[in-house]
Amino acid sequence: MAASFLDEWLDARADARYNLGESGIANIQLNQIIPAAHLSDRLAQIDFEHNDTRGSRDLREEIARLYEHADADNVLVTAGITEALLVYLMDRRMPGSNVVVLTPAFHNLYDLPDVLGYEVRRVALSFESNFSLPLDDIVSQCDSRTRAVLLTTPGNPMGTVFSSDEILNLADRLTSLDCDIVLDEQYRMLPYEEGVERLASLANFSDRIVGLGSAGKCYGTVGLRVGWAISTPERLASMIAIKALTSHAVCKLNDSICVNLLRDGKDIVAANQVTVRANSKALEKFVAKNNTMLSMVPPAAGTVAFPFLKTGLSSIDFGEKLYRDHDVLILPGEAFDMPGFFRVRLGLPVEEFKTALGKIQLTLDCMKA
Ligand SMILES: Cc1ncc(COP(=O)(O)O)c(C=O)c1O
Repeated sequence: MAASFLDEWLDARADARYNLGESGIANIQLNQIIPAAHLSDRLAQIDFEHNDTRGSRDLREEIARLYEHADADNVLVTAGITEALLVYLMDRRMPGSNVVVLTPAFHNLYDLPDVLGYEVRRVALSFESNFSLPLDDIVSQCDSRTRAVLLTTPGNPMGTVFSSDEILNLADRLTSLDCDIVLDEQYRMLPYEEGVERLASLANFSDRIVGLGSAGKCYGTVGLRVGWAISTPERLASMIAIKALTSHAVCKLNDSICVNLLRDGKDIVAANQVTVRANSKALEKFVAKNNTMLSMVPPAAGTVAFPFLKTGLSSIDFGEKLYRDHDVLILPGEAFDMPGFFRVRLGLPVEEFKTALGKIQLTLDCMKA
């Protein structure tokens, strides 16, 4: 299998001074999770026995607290959302089965089912409809062999959020089929609305709604590789049997660090919320000021936005120009099969983000001249 455009593009330009191409927040250090004074004692006590395949009870309890409809028995800890999706898809696979995937989306959502032999039916969200949920299009793609509809909310790359009503409506229309709704909620902890701690989740609201979450992007701990699936104990039992064949368990060290992160890391997330909120406002202003050249559906949550370049210049050429002339990295829409768009990371420190926008302005001005 060839490397994805996304990985190739970002890896080749990872030295850019202003990295607006990635999707995360700046990653934190261990001493921001466990105070330095306690660190060596805590680490010294960790043993390397196999962890529980489900994840430790402490961690599952912390994760369950993030959900409205879950307790520890509804949680399976995995190596990121990637493994949660993998074991889910392996468990649900049948000869001739298909999944419906809403695009644009992070490529794992369609590449993983594809390599596992599913027929992947893509349903495109449209810019003209503000990336809203196209209920009729989704339902018309589902049939007796559809095992799941895969949705990302908040979206990557657009940062748009589907409402609970939209998701419940979809669930209602799928009741006659053996089809789940799988919610990839990687960016759920970063709503832009003031005073909202995190977006509500319908994960496990019914046995047909499966949630996938991660400690990665919203906390700045992508290398910790802790994610999870939220579902019924019955469904998780067969996913656990598969997980015993993949990674077996998340290492106790990472499990234990993640317990601390979720228990004591509210300030880390709150600070990240302030950053993405400020940067999303700055980007909206920037797009409005350059409205002859740019347009955008404003993101509502998460760490990314997806402006459209109206000038006709390909977003690959635009990206090359920014990188070459100003040391700024963006991700062209080609990574999502949407040429003309480009993804912008909102997780950079506010001042650095402002400087990067200034450099994009220079490029736009030069294109106008
Ligand atoms: C929407 C979305 N889902 C899943 C992933 C992969 O998540 P993880 O690193 O937790 O495996 C990413 C990573 O960028 C993502 O953006």
